[in-house]
Amino acid sequence: MKKSPNDIYGNIYRTFPDYPYVGVYIVNRPGLLIRDPELIKSVVQQNFSHFHNNDLIVDEKVDPIFGKNPFTSRDELWKQRRAVHTRQFSSGKLKSMFNSVVQGGDRLTKYVTTEMNANPKFTTEANELASKYILYNVGICALGIDPMTFEDDNAEVRVIARDILQPTFYNAIMQFLMFMLPSLGKFLSVSIVPPKVTQRLKSLIQEQLQYREQHKIVRNDFFESIQEYKGEKFGVEEMLVQIGSFFIDGYVTSSTALSFILYELAVNLDIQKRLAEEIDEFLAKHKGEVTYEVFQSLSYLNGVFLGKYHNI
Ligand code: HEM
Repeated sequence: MKKSPNDIYGNIYRTFPDYPYVGVYIVNRPGLLIRDPELIKSVVQQNFSHFHNNDLIVDEKVDPIFGKNPFTSRDELWKQRRAVHTRQFSSGKLKSMFNSVVQGGDRLTKYVTTEMNANPKFTTEANELASKYILYNVGICALGIDPMTFEDDNAEVRVIARDILQPTFYNAIMQFLMFMLPSLGKFLSVSIVPPKVTQRLKSLIQEQLQYREQHKIVRNDFFESIQEYKGEKFGVEEMLVQIGSFFIDGYVTSSTALSFILYELAVNLDIQKRLAEEIDEFLAKHKGEVTYEVFQSLSYLNGVFLGKYHNI
């Protein structure tokens, strides 16, 4: 019990470098730990519709955000819920979120420049910086608010994020049992998303709905688009599932990936230099304007994010 599941699986992964997959036991259930990147891609991308059922069983009455997420949904319910998610992330919708993400980049640059000007020896933890940036994007895209993550350590979305990552001792034990013995999930009534986070997100949605109605605001953003699905109006409960999922699925994953990228770029200066050159050339060519269409032509940047370069 002294090692986390990540350490245990990490060890198995490293012990069998020449094998595409390794047989394991998860308590009493046999499983396969897949090592080969092509095989992983086949499972989570090309053939995902055959591998969508996960082991976790979360009671959607206790934890509506995680319990109604496609991640925990099975079979027909997965199909329906996944279809709603897929529509929310069509290329048209991603395009409409892109400007907010660019604004997040500007705020990040401003934050680092201001700190560096005030203190040339300014240092920051990569994960802290990545969290500020990703939470800015999540807050502005999903909730339509100015998340203030660079200005205020106790900004609303930062408090929510801390609450998500710091489960109570009781919940941590229960979640561990749930992952290891999923059949217990039905009886444990454990929430992955803490109830106070669910409540707070719901209040934020209600406040935003009221604000937009009172001020007759039309923005054509994600928040607005999730109020309707196939001509049907979504209520606050459904919006909570969509926005909560955006928060839960998008925050820890993206901020962790970004902090590792920042770390790797810091210790692989040749790759950092090459990437900076590509970005400088790109900005010069497009007169400093970054748009969704041309952004995708940054092939070295995309390669860095995909971990393509071998010393990354
Ligand atoms: C670097 C960032 C990310 C990583 C590494 C990542 C990784 C993953 C993984 C490993 C799964 C599990 C697939 C399975 O069931 O076996 C997953 C599922 C999912 N992710 Fe992400 N994710 C990232 C970002 C995001 C973002 C930004 C969103 C949305 C805003 C998102 C939404 C989802 C959803 C909805 C599912 C459930 C899919 C389904 O079961 O149909 N993810 N992600």
